[in-house]
Amino acid sequence: MSALLEVAGLTKRFGGVTAVNDCSFSVEQGTITALIGPNGSGKTTAFNMITGYLKADSGGIRFDGHDVRKPDPARLYRAGLSRTFQQARIFPELSVRENLVVASGFGWADLFGRRVSGRDRASANETLDEFRLGALADLRAADLSYGQRKLLEFAAVLMSKPKLVLLDEPTAGVNPVMIDTMERHVRARHAEGVTFLIVEHDMQLVMRLCDPVIVLDRGAPIASGKPAEVQANPLVVDAYLGA
Ligand SMILES: Nc1ncnc2c1ncn2[C@@H]1O[C@H](COP(=O)(O)OP(=O)(O)O)[C@@H](O)[C@H]1O
Ligand SMILES: [Mg+2]
Repeated sequence: MSALLEVAGLTKRFGGVTAVNDCSFSVEQGTITALIGPNGSGKTTAFNMITGYLKADSGGIRFDGHDVRKPDPARLYRAGLSRTFQQARIFPELSVRENLVVASGFGWADLFGRRVSGRDRASANETLDEFRLGALADLRAADLSYGQRKLLEFAAVLMSKPKLVLLDEPTAGVNPVMIDTMERHVRARHAEGVTFLIVEHDMQLVMRLCDPVIVLDRGAPIASGKPAEVQANPLVVDAYLGA
């Protein structure tokens, strides 16, 4: 195995709070890696630095064999690193289909200039079918349910044909049927070679889907390994009990 993503010494302070503290870990090619930890342990802040939405105070990342000097969301997206947000970010005024076309990368001008290529249109239609969103294709994204918006956001980030997908709490607040749907789609894309790094609170889902599991506490990893090992680690138990 080789590392697709290496995180080295990332640090971020907000005033007096050190949200991420000299944090290092790697995500091996071909894994579904979980990043878990108590609320406020720095998971989202780490995602934000890795994907270029937030500038690190120090530390850096390597992605797909290259040092990423100044992480930039759009450039990383094109290089094959895409992500979802804890609060799904989609274009509410665009239709479901238009959201997918825009996400295929090169977006706005093509969409409004009606120069959407046949290939992008076909690929949007394939994704609509794969995610069973066909019946919703012409609805405004704003009119979808919360769970459907999360599913659309997930479908949209796959339009870039990513190598690595970071999911921030993909199942938070969604119903059990939608949790199964999300799991099925992660497994299907994983089987096609996509690597995942997932922040997830549903421990049953983490235990059956992810390997390895990395545990953050106060901004840095305190454990990582097979789900069962991590679950049995006293440091992890203490972190979750708020010791
Ligand atoms: N923009 C911000 N400004 C100030 N503090 C922040 C900001 N974002 C996160 N924090 C703080 O950083 C810590 C880590 O937050 P976060 O990364 O959201 O944790 P997690 O995703 O693990 O719940 C928390 O103490 C949080 O309050
Ligand atoms: Mg978070």
